[in-house]
Amino acid sequence: MPSSRRGSGSVVLPSGQTLAYHTRTQDEEDLPHANKKTMADHLRKYDSLFTLTPQRMRMIVEAFRDTLETGLQKKCQIVPMIPTFVFGWPTGEEKGDFLAVDLGGTNLRVCLVTLQGEGKFELTQSKYRLTEEQKQEEGQKLFDFCAECLGNFVKSNIVSAGGKIEEGKNIPLGFTFSYPCSQERIDHGELIRWTKGFGAPNTEGHDVAAMFREALVKYEVPVTLEALINDTTGTLIASHYVNPSTKIAVIFGTGCNAAYMEKLPAIEKLGNLGEGSADEMAINCEWGAFDSFEHEHLPRTTYDIIVDETSNKPGEQSFEKLISGRYLGEILRLVICELIDEGVLFLGQNTYKIEIPYVFDTAFLSLMESDPTDELLMIIGIFTHFFALETTLAERQFFKALAKLVGRRAARLSACGIAAIVNKMGYLEDGCSVGADGSLYNKYPGFADRVHEGLVDIFGLKGKNIVTHHAEDGSGVGSAIIAAMTKNRKEAGIFVNV
Ligand code: GLC
Repeated sequence: MPSSRRGSGSVVLPSGQTLAYHTRTQDEEDLPHANKKTMADHLRKYDSLFTLTPQRMRMIVEAFRDTLETGLQKKCQIVPMIPTFVFGWPTGEEKGDFLAVDLGGTNLRVCLVTLQGEGKFELTQSKYRLTEEQKQEEGQKLFDFCAECLGNFVKSNIVSAGGKIEEGKNIPLGFTFSYPCSQERIDHGELIRWTKGFGAPNTEGHDVAAMFREALVKYEVPVTLEALINDTTGTLIASHYVNPSTKIAVIFGTGCNAAYMEKLPAIEKLGNLGEGSADEMAINCEWGAFDSFEHEHLPRTTYDIIVDETSNKPGEQSFEKLISGRYLGEILRLVICELIDEGVLFLGQNTYKIEIPYVFDTAFLSLMESDPTDELLMIIGIFTHFFALETTLAERQFFKALAKLVGRRAARLSACGIAAIVNKMGYLEDGCSVGADGSLYNKYPGFADRVHEGLVDIFGLKGKNIVTHHAEDGSGVGSAIIAAMTKNRKEAGIFVNV
């Protein structure tokens, strides 16, 4: 009698869904399966495709640093290095009640933040999931939805809770809009391009702060939009508020991007800002666009090219497409589909479910990598439950190893981006903290360790001086702190017009 595999348990996916597995699979002999040796041979091929050597990483860092510098000198570059009009670090003493709206890649969040000073705060929030349709419908409708949700939030959390909104005294609002916007002032921002799969028409090239203001008037929401910020900038400021050794912030979520604090004279393209004084300004790098269009520096595989060419923005966001949560599951799915086409995997089984683009959630990669059982029961569960596919142990070991390759490459490429900023700013000797946030960083097992390993591969042992840590909620708390900083700056007469 051939042995059968049994197992049961359950796991909660990041989407909130519970995946239960009760498995008694067919005997391995019943279906034609690839054997252990075949899978090991294939793995060798993918290992060489997805592995980045330290030498290659150092070359990427060099090119990355040049790109960052060009972006600071000249306007309209592919990596736009956007001046954010956030001048310097918070003191930690910012205080007061602020509202924050965060339009991210997956959710809309509305928060009431009370800054208490001494790096302390309180936060109340509501979250709404965005539908795929909302990401593609008229831009103004998207902002109307944000204003409507904010209006309801103000009613139930402030007005009904007995809070007073004095006549003519609007609540200050920070709007976290996590897409590349070129800014002339802190409360303005023209959308350069949608990223992360959004495509709402009549928004690119428009001032999104003005569009949101129009919606706020329509829904009579008693707020004043003080600052339009990117999630990375918010994360930079919020992390520094509680941990002053923070110098860089990175988001590893549906998208991937970084912000850091730059000396004003180094931002050559900014020119003269007029009367006022300040030494530094935060820069939103929008580094997800690194190597877009030209594809000169990043090692792209056939799967990455397919991801790119079938996306709604071919050629764009090249760096992000190798790293962020929106794409990693799809990269792995494309490898599986190639092996199906070659007749290696799932012979005699109906594979239509796994052949649908983007069905393989990046959360599955984390789950596969963290499957602790010898038989890899979690992986059995994923394939039977979601794709109606039987797997052998050799195949499951292969999938686990493949997930590791894709996840590891993402972490090592991210290390290249961080290293480029560290090099540029001269942070290596004294070291610095990097505030990091996003589903990949927070939920993917070993992601942070792999970023740290990558930094050591690039810099040698000194790479240990650069340490990432889980950041404070940048899009909510960071946005509130920036709204407070802006208010204080203007009251102090520093660059009041921007
Ligand atoms: C995308 C956006 C960028 C954002 C990042 C993380 O790269 O273009 O603005 O910071 O995703 O959310």
